[in-house]
Amino acid sequence: MTTPVRFGVVGLGEIYQLAHHLAFQRAAGLEAVVVCDLDQDVATRTAQSLGAEAGTDYRRLLDDERIQAVDLVLPHHLHYKIAREFLEAGKHVLIEKPMTVGAADARELVALAADKGLKFTVNENTRFVPAYQATLDAVTSGEVGDVTLVRTLISGNEFGRLGNPSLWKGRQDGSGGGTIIDAGAHSFYLLKWMFGEVASLRALSERLVDVSQVEDWSVVAGRMRSGALFSVESTFTSGGPWNERLEVHGTEGLIVVDQHQNPPAMIFRGKRDHAGSPLPGTTYEPGTWKYNSIAAGVESFARSIADDEPTAVSPEDGAYAVHVIELAYQSVASGSAVTA
Ligand SMILES: NC(=O)c1ccc[n+]([C@@H]2O[C@H](COP(=O)([O-])OP(=O)(O)OC[C@H]3O[C@@H](n4cnc5c(N)ncnc54)[C@H](O)[C@@H]3O)[C@@H](O)[C@H]2O)c1
Repeated sequence: MTTPVRFGVVGLGEIYQLAHHLAFQRAAGLEAVVVCDLDQDVATRTAQSLGAEAGTDYRRLLDDERIQAVDLVLPHHLHYKIAREFLEAGKHVLIEKPMTVGAADARELVALAADKGLKFTVNENTRFVPAYQATLDAVTSGEVGDVTLVRTLISGNEFGRLGNPSLWKGRQDGSGGGTIIDAGAHSFYLLKWMFGEVASLRALSERLVDVSQVEDWSVVAGRMRSGALFSVESTFTSGGPWNERLEVHGTEGLIVVDQHQNPPAMIFRGKRDHAGSPLPGTTYEPGTWKYNSIAAGVESFARSIADDEPTAVSPEDGAYAVHVIELAYQSVASGSAVTA
């Protein structure tokens, strides 16, 4: 049996509790040594459930020699600063999306980790969703022909958090933006992972939640370098549960992934295939697919450290998503198309 990779965790809020915690509970190849949050009660409760130590000051983890790696699950404006401190301290770093708020910061962290021989990447959970993996397999084996249009829709219910001005989510200085950075981080990574680089784009955004400072609806559309078109739409004012939809249109067929549909991934082969067929290996898990994919991302990162293999999510692709996010905000500000 291999020795578990020893982690410190910083940030024990909503998505830690719903998703990352599963990985530390399962403890398959990893273990939480110290868990840290500004909120002492949350830290204590979480630590007790894992048999770990609790902390409120992440700086105490920097020179803790028991800790090999950190899982950072923090508000966006802290990503760059805290990831950098841990890389400087010689720890492997897994960070939640978006890698950073600015693309230059993301590139700097990727270079710093490479210089130091450390693993560093973003915990981009789309990479671990079985329906997306099955989609990539089908596209790569030519099942839809040449891809003509990739369309994503992410819809979430963030009325509560955007409506509370004291929280980071709805503040420009906390999140760095709204749907484009927050949901777009997933879609722009997915586009790069599956279909390559963006050539040009145009972006639109709107805000419905008055007290928030950030956009809660956006569409970013354009052309990939492959020649395919894309459209990435996101909203945070959907009363339903979080959902992600992906359509891949090709010259020979269509794939539709929708976590609210059962089965979640269908392929339609040709003009007359109205019924379609499920893509293999995808199961209907509307309430848990996202959390399981996030926990799988933590476990995969631990394996990449244990085996000294490249991370499944390439850090360059994580940084590239931030680059596209920046281009999209440039397009919103200028009202024109932007060439990548
Ligand atoms: N992969 C996904 O699908 C997914 C889903 C939701 C959120 N996220 C990402 O996860 C991150 C966290 O989001 P969240 O919704 O859990 O936010 P959250 O506000 O619920 O949790 C953040 C936690 O960080 C703690 N914190 C803040 N500053 C700290 C510090 N200096 N030291 C220690 N703890 C500190 C807060 O007390 C809070 O508990 C964000 O990057 C977000 O975009 C990813």
